[in-house]
Formats: sequence, C-alpha cells, structure tokens
Amino acid sequence: MSVLLHISASPRGLASHSRRVARQFIGHLQTMDAPALQIVERDLVAQPLPYPDCSFVDAMLTPEMQRTADQTQALALSERLIAELECADTLLIDTPMHNFTVPAALKAWIDHVVRIGRSFRSTREGKVGLLRDRPVFIVIACGGPVPEPPTATGQVDFLTPYLRYVLATIGLRNVSVLRLTGLSRGETALAQADADAAGWIEAATADWKRTTWSAAT
Ligand SMILES: Cc1cc2nc3c(=O)[nH]c(=O)nc-3n(C[C@H](O)[C@H](O)[C@H](O)COP(=O)(O)O)c2cc1C
Repeated sequence: MSVLLHISASPRGLASHSRRVARQFIGHLQTMDAPALQIVERDLVAQPLPYPDCSFVDAMLTPEMQRTADQTQALALSERLIAELECADTLLIDTPMHNFTVPAALKAWIDHVVRIGRSFRSTREGKVGLLRDRPVFIVIACGGPVPEPPTATGQVDFLTPYLRYVLATIGLRNVSVLRLTGLSRGETALAQADADAAGWIEAATADWKRTTWSAAT
C-alpha cells in the first residue's frame, strides 16, 4: 500500500485548471499497474485551516517538554497535519498563483506543517529538515504569462521558488513542478497548457513508478 497525500488549494472548484490536472495525474497513476494506492484528500478550500494565532505561536516557541496541556492542544492540528504528511509516500499539491505567490489557504497549511523543532530545526549552519524525503508533485495554475527569462515588465513568479524552498526546509527536495501559464489568455494558451500537462503527467508518473516501486522492493 502506497499513500498519496493530495493537497488542493484552488477556490474555483470544477472550473479550476490546477485541480483538473491534478485529477488527471491521479487518474494516470491509478491506471498504472502499481501497488495499491491510497489517496488522502486534504482540500484546503472545503476545509480551511485557521491561521496561526497567539496560543499557537506561544506553544510553538515553548520547548516540548515544558508545554502545558493547553499549549499541546494549541498545536494539535499542526501535529495532525504533520503526521498526515509523514504517513504519505507521495505528496501532490495543486494550487493557483494568487498575487504572484501561494494562495492564503495553502499558506495556512504551510504555517502548520513547517514548524521549528518538529519538521525542521535551526542550526548554526541553517535550517535542517526533519522529514523523510519523498516524491512531491506540484501543479501550479497562473492566469497570466510568466516570461522566462524574466523581463522588466512581465510578472515574476515567487510561487515556484517559494514552494521549493519551504518544502526543502522540512526535508522535501525531490520536487517536480508543472507550471501552467497564460490560462486566462484564450484558447491557444489553454491548448498549450493541456499539451504541457499531458507531457508532464507522462514523465512524472513514469518517474514516480521508478522511485516508488524500487523503494518498495
Ligand atoms: C486573488 C487572485 C489573484 C491572482 N493573481 C494572479 C497572479 O498574480 N498571476 C497570475 O498569473 N494569475 C493570477 N490570478 C489568476 C489565477 O492564477 C488563474 O485564474 C488560475 O487559473 C487559477 O488557478 P485555478 O484555475 O486552478 O483556479 C489570480 C486570481 C485570483 C483570484
């Protein structure tokens, strides 16, 4: 049994491109002759997470051995989300670009999961991730184009490097990203996005098969 944790962050439901492509990705995995795949769905829009509040911050900064029962309770959701991630063999995140970066719903998940002393520790040499690495697949949907290389007037993508950086902070470095751009720019851009998605799904699932199956044997 292999567990895939699927995080979704678009508020657009069935109209969402990132959700659609992630569903195609999962559909493709399920057609492969793989060990049984259990999908754990965490929809950050259907079930929004609270933002860190005062009690969360206070508890987070208190060493574990000194926490009161209330402080332990304040971190219970964070603990559950980290445990959910730890149990997953594969992570799939689909997300829109909102104002050049992650939507607030996804940022809330990150703030629960990326926690000092639990999923990373701080050392003189920098932050060290405490989670086991595993394949991570990310589908990003952007309404506008993202020029590569960046231009003086084109929009800058802070989302992709941010997600890579924050996931590496907790130890997840085996990350493959599909970034679909120009999705609100008409049929030609949409057709291009569909072609990019199909190619990525083919390559990424073949890669997943190689790493996941060889790890299981
Ligand atoms: C609040 C908000 C902010 C957005 N900011 C950007 C942006 O910075 N760059 C961009 O290319 N598209 C932006 N968009 C457009 C979305 O990225 C685009 O609609 C995308 O398709 C959303 O993903 P989805 O189809 O999975 O819902 C924004 C949309 C919303 C609602």
